[in-house]
Amino acid sequence: MATTRTTTNTLPASSSILLLLLLSASSVLADDPYRFFTWNVTYGDIWPMGVKQQGILINSQFPGPQIEAVTNDNVIINVFNSLPEPFLISWNGIQQRRSSWQDGVYGTNCPIPPGRNFTYVMQFKDQIGSFFYFPSLAFHKAAGAFGGIRVLSRPMIPVPFPPPAGDFTLLIGDWYKANHSSLRYMLDSGRDLPFPDGVLINGRGLSGNAFTVDQGRTYRFRICNVGLTTSLNIRFQGHTMKLVEVEGSHTLQNTYSSLDVHLAQCYSVLVTADQQPLDYYIVVSTRFTSKVLSTTAILHYSNSAGRPAGGPPGGPTIQIDWSFNQARSIRWNLTASGPRPNPQGSYHYGLVNTTRTIRLASSAPVINGKQRYAVNSVSFIPADTPLKVADFYKISGVFSLGSIPDSPTFGGGYLQTSVMAANFRDYVEIVFENYENTMQSWHIDGYSFWIVGMDGGQWSSASRKNYNLRDAVARCTVQVYPKSWSAIYMPLDNVGMWNVRSENWARQYLGQQFYLRVYSPANSWRDENPIPRNALLCGRAAGRRTRPL
Ligand SMILES: *[C@@H]1O[C@H](CO)[C@@H](O)[C@H](O)[C@H]1NC(C)=O
Ligand SMILES: *[C@@H]1O[C@H](CO)[C@@H](O)[C@H](O)[C@H]1NC(C)=O
Ligand SMILES: *[C@@H]1O[C@H](CO)[C@@H](O)[C@H](O)[C@H]1NC(C)=O
Ligand SMILES: *[C@@H]1O[C@H](CO)[C@@H](O)[C@H](O)[C@H]1NC(C)=O
Ligand SMILES: *[C@@H]1O[C@H](CO)[C@@H](O)[C@H](O)[C@H]1NC(C)=O
Repeated sequence: MATTRTTTNTLPASSSILLLLLLSASSVLADDPYRFFTWNVTYGDIWPMGVKQQGILINSQFPGPQIEAVTNDNVIINVFNSLPEPFLISWNGIQQRRSSWQDGVYGTNCPIPPGRNFTYVMQFKDQIGSFFYFPSLAFHKAAGAFGGIRVLSRPMIPVPFPPPAGDFTLLIGDWYKANHSSLRYMLDSGRDLPFPDGVLINGRGLSGNAFTVDQGRTYRFRICNVGLTTSLNIRFQGHTMKLVEVEGSHTLQNTYSSLDVHLAQCYSVLVTADQQPLDYYIVVSTRFTSKVLSTTAILHYSNSAGRPAGGPPGGPTIQIDWSFNQARSIRWNLTASGPRPNPQGSYHYGLVNTTRTIRLASSAPVINGKQRYAVNSVSFIPADTPLKVADFYKISGVFSLGSIPDSPTFGGGYLQTSVMAANFRDYVEIVFENYENTMQSWHIDGYSFWIVGMDGGQWSSASRKNYNLRDAVARCTVQVYPKSWSAIYMPLDNVGMWNVRSENWARQYLGQQFYLRVYSPANSWRDENPIPRNALLCGRAAGRRTRPL
């Protein structure tokens, strides 16, 4: 087994031997490079808004360390949970092909108990682009433990723009001064979250960040919204942004003076330092909120003569049409390469007939006197055993297939461990319907999908006439505007148990999510990896064996 070893930090030889044991006989390909990480997750003091808070740190960092990898790399992350409570990390946008075992949400993985560790063994198969990881349990995301993931193209694959002079990650998000346990307590007791206290850029809310650039050169900025409740807008004073990539797809290179970034979305833009040598504001502000929160960072020319001229530039606030138009302008560059050297548009997603339509309506029912959130009237409650694990061991009574309908019922809300059955190789159309007056953002684990349409009002089969079946962008998160719908096409080419969730974190926490079980009757390792040998087992699966070495 010939392995190129790209060691990010040193590990004792015994761990590597153990790793080879873990990997042997699994379908992770040995020829692709390995990157090893060891992460220690702890509580620690942070001061994002100038006051001390308890944050969740990874290797003492807030935000957590960035993962930098290349298409097809094997990424091995040994996570030590030094919190006094269970913990899991999930990888937003990493497709985990054939391996929902590594997805790190409670429907697929047993939590890492306090004082224990779990090694995620992932391959960033056939992916490029900008993503992030986040803690998936409880309300940990409100305390940190998130970080950027960048998957670079392999050296021989053409990238549709010249190599930038620098590559920066901007993790932007709303923030609360209350700690994650207080926020969770509010939700558990049936109350809504208050309005956030501020907006952070890379963990700082008080303009602490400066990004140094050389005049005349071009830089890539990867911008992800890792916040909990609000869409954001970003702009660079005196500069424009050329959009080049969205969650793994190279886009038409349109130029924008400001860009909306909805919850859990990631965008890459190129910014050329083509102005007078000064400092310039980078502004991030909340969208569609009556009170506007904002924060700034500095774009600092290395030969800067001084402070920014004028104040931070204003941006759009409540304008929805503006945002709709911008969303529709974001399209796939059909002639650019993706993770492979062939053009992205060589797969004609629009010429394949869909085999099933799933309509998902979000709602906010009160159930048993408490505020909950639902999809097709079902508000998800976790089972005592991860669904994937229960499925593998055929433990009955944990969930039932068909526990969420394919279309809105508009009936009263109810609690259920909702799992939707789907067949491997089906080609589905999913319509996210929003009858509420709030902004939505939806994410599907394990997949990238084409956003074929979005519009105001109610979706009907006639809405298909206006679908973009030519150059819609493929990504893993889609926003749905108030009283509007968004439609996607998604080929079910990845067997597993996949989380479909609202990225509004209070809604996700209070039940606006479910699992899509993509099933292949072949039951073959070609379609799905076997349970990892190191899988943690809990609930009704506690004490079972994974598989012999
Ligand atoms: C993690 O950090 C804590 C606090 O610094 C330390 O006590 C513990 O030994 C560390 N664990 C590992 C596995 O490095
Ligand atoms: C925990 O870490 C050790 C190495 O320190 C490793 O041998 C072991 O496999 C890890 N446990 C899991 C469940 O991944
Ligand atoms: C699309 O990608 C091609 C190939 O790299 C590039 O030459 C072209 O400029 C891009 N087109 C647009 C409109 O961005
Ligand atoms: C969170 O905040 C509450 C209220 O201020 C406090 O009682 C609690 O100890 C804090 N929890 C942690 C883990 O910091
Ligand atoms: C899609 O469906 C239409 C109408 O039923 C049919 O005419 C067409 O041949 C189908 N296309 C493919 C690629 O199967």
